[in-house]
Amino acid sequence: MQIGSMDNQAKNTKILVTGAKGQLGSELKIISAYEPYQFVFVDIEELDLTDGTAVNAFFNTHKIDFCINCAAYTAVDYAEKNKEAARAVNVDAVQNLAEACTINNTFLFQISTDFVFRGNTSLPLTEEIEPDPISVYGSTKLEGEIVAMSTNPRTLVLRTAWLYSSFGNNFVKTMIRLGKERDELGVIADQIGTPTYAGDLAKTIIEIVKFAQENGLDENRGVFHYSNEGVASWYDFAKAIFDLKSIDINLKPLKTTEYVTSAKRPQYSLMDKSRIKSTFNLQIPYWRDSLKNCLELLED
Ligand SMILES: NC(=O)c1ccc[n+]([C@@H]2O[C@H](COP(=O)([O-])OP(=O)(O)OC[C@H]3O[C@@H](n4cnc5c(N)ncnc54)[C@H](OP(=O)(O)O)[C@@H]3O)[C@@H](O)[C@H]2O)c1
Repeated sequence: MQIGSMDNQAKNTKILVTGAKGQLGSELKIISAYEPYQFVFVDIEELDLTDGTAVNAFFNTHKIDFCINCAAYTAVDYAEKNKEAARAVNVDAVQNLAEACTINNTFLFQISTDFVFRGNTSLPLTEEIEPDPISVYGSTKLEGEIVAMSTNPRTLVLRTAWLYSSFGNNFVKTMIRLGKERDELGVIADQIGTPTYAGDLAKTIIEIVKFAQENGLDENRGVFHYSNEGVASWYDFAKAIFDLKSIDINLKPLKTTEYVTSAKRPQYSLMDKSRIKSTFNLQIPYWRDSLKNCLELLED
């Protein structure tokens, strides 16, 4: 395809971002200013995805080419006692969206999580590994993946992990606050994964949209794993935040058994990113570099 016609195609492409006020949705909004596409951003106030009639009406009035579903019930511990509320957003709402996407030939990006895995081995998580969630949040997100892919053939499930951003509430902001309030802090050191900057994930999604327009995506639908590069424990992540912020605090490593939460979490959730890197020819930033960028943005 020629450059001019690609530009025109991009200008006529409409991308719907749901859950737009969350971490990932907000990062997509920042990026949208530099992209040629037409973006529509909605959160629950504009479009409650659990309302199937409203979702259908929305798709009838907007011709959407790509839908990036960033909406989710992400309160992992609360979900243990609020299964119906978690299911409503993580499963039923996804069903509504996927049905509307199918009718309107819309490509759906369904964002999912490492919490679909048990995470009890020390092997990087490939897309071939059978999911086996150990929390309500994880099982509802897995159901959401299945519903999305079985309802709309044009679906790409993007699993990510340990997401943070300069927007919303997250581990980075909690550590900065606690670092200012306390002299000493215990952080879990035996859960392993990779901190992932939502800004990098947002860029990756737009890269995939570009790829789709140039090459088509129907052959590449399915499940993909994405996180930043590198490996860390929550303790390492906290230490990096305190070092970069020059916060002087006595940081103590904790075992998972010393920090009780309602929901169980995977012990080892290092994402294998080979598939997404080779399919879309991606370079993924190292987690400490991205953390530094995000902290600089937070200071601004
Ligand atoms: N955060 C993580 O560490 C993490 C890790 C791995 C994967 N993920 C996945 O990544 C995606 C993005 O996560 P995030 O951290 O950006 O989430 P987030 O900050 O919690 O944002 C989710 C957004 O969805 C909205 N929402 C909730 N119910 C809705 C409904 N019925 N209709 C429309 N919007 C609704 C929320 O609104 P309210 O705030 O008003 O509820 C919120 O603005 C999610 O799929 C999540 O499961 C997150």
